[in-house]
Amino acid sequence: MSIKTERNEFISRLTRYKRICVVQDERFEPEKWHPWIPHDAQIVGRKSLVGGEGIKSVEQAESLWNHFAACGVDRGTLVLAVGGGSITDLVGFAASTYKRGVDIAFLPTTIIAMVDAAIGGKNGVNFHGIKNQIGTYHLPVAIGIDAGWLDTLPAREQVSGWMEMLKHGMIAGEAEAEQVLGVRDLAQIPGLLAASAAVKARIVSEDPRESGRRKSLNLGHTVGHALEALSHAEGNPMPHGIAVGFGLGFSLLASVELGAGLPVVAAESGLACLKHWLQHTPLPHAPAAAMWELMQHDKKNAGGEVLEVWLREWGQPIWDQPLKFEDFQRLWLKTIATFAD
Ligand SMILES: NC(=O)c1ccc[n+]([C@@H]2O[C@H](COP(=O)([O-])OP(=O)(O)OC[C@H]3O[C@@H](n4cnc5c(N)ncnc54)[C@H](O)[C@@H]3O)[C@@H](O)[C@H]2O)c1
Repeated sequence: MSIKTERNEFISRLTRYKRICVVQDERFEPEKWHPWIPHDAQIVGRKSLVGGEGIKSVEQAESLWNHFAACGVDRGTLVLAVGGGSITDLVGFAASTYKRGVDIAFLPTTIIAMVDAAIGGKNGVNFHGIKNQIGTYHLPVAIGIDAGWLDTLPAREQVSGWMEMLKHGMIAGEAEAEQVLGVRDLAQIPGLLAASAAVKARIVSEDPRESGRRKSLNLGHTVGHALEALSHAEGNPMPHGIAVGFGLGFSLLASVELGAGLPVVAAESGLACLKHWLQHTPLPHAPAAAMWELMQHDKKNAGGEVLEVWLREWGQPIWDQPLKFEDFQRLWLKTIATFAD
C-alpha cells in the first residue's frame, strides 16, 4: 500500500471526481483544504464538526447520511474528510455505508491521523460506551499530508500522537525503536512522520484484514482503549494516544513478566521514555475491575478471552496472547506505580 502525501499526487488522484463533499474539523482553519482539490471540481457540500471522541457515534453518522442526502452525494461523488482520527473514523464510516459505499479521501490534521488513523481503511464509531464497536473496512482513494498543519495542534494532542509513533517504532525493529526512544523534543516529530506512516502502511499491506501481523498495531491498545473509554464515562476525557501511552507501559511490563521474553533493559528504556512524555499527565483513576469490564468487550477478543499483544524484542511482536484478570490486576497496579514513581 503506497501513501501519496504530495499535493500534486493527491490532486491527480482526485481529478476523476467532479463533485466533492467536504467534512472538516471546525478547529482546523476553514477552507485550508482548497488548494488540495482539482480546480474544476464542484464542492457540493461543506460541513464542520468539532472533532473529538464524542462525535464517533451512530447518531453523528446518521446526521452525515442526512447531509449526504441533502447534498446529492452519489456513487460518483468523493467525500473528503479533513481532520483528526475522530473525523476520519466517523466520516470514513458514514461514507463507507452510504449507498453501500462512496469514495473517500483524507487530509489528516493531527499526528495520529497522519501516521495511523487515515491509513489502512479501518473506520468506525463507538457503541454502548465501547470503542469502535461498529465499523467497516473502506480504503481511501488518497491521503495527503502537510506537516505544517500541525502548527495549531495543542501540545497535549501532539504528545498523544507521538505515543502512536512510539508504538510504531517499538513494533518495527531495533533501529526504529532506538530512534524514537531517543526523541525528547516535539520539534523532531515532523521529520519522523513519513517513516512512522510507512510502518503502518507496510503492516497493513501485509495483512489488510487483520488476520495476523496487523494485530501487532494493537500493542498497548486493549488497556489504552479501556482507559480512554473510562475517562470519557467519568467526564474527564483522556486523548487517545495518551491512554495508549499508559497501555504501552502496561504492555512493556507484561512482555517481561508474562513470559514473552522482552529483556528488562529494553522495557526499562521504553518505560523511561513513556514516563518522560507523560510526566505532566495526571495519573488515571482507573480501578482494575472497571478496566477489565471494558477490556472484556474489546473487539479483538475471541473465545471469551482477553487477547493481548506482547513484545519478544523491539520489532518482534506476538499477538493473540491470553490475559487473565489476576495478571492484569497485578501488572496494572505496577504500571500505575511505575508512572507515579
Ligand atoms: N482507524 C484507525 O486505524 C485508527 C488508528 C488510530 C486512532 N484512531 C482513532 O483516532 C482517534 C484519535 O485521533 P486524534 O487524536 O486525531 O483525535 P481527534 O480527531 O479527536 O483530534 C484531537 C483534537 O485535535 C483537534 N484538532 C484536529 N486537528 C487540529 C489542528 N490541525 N489544529 C488544532 N486542533 C486540531 C480536534 O478538534 C480535537 O479536539 C480515536 O478515536 C482513535 O480511536 C483510529
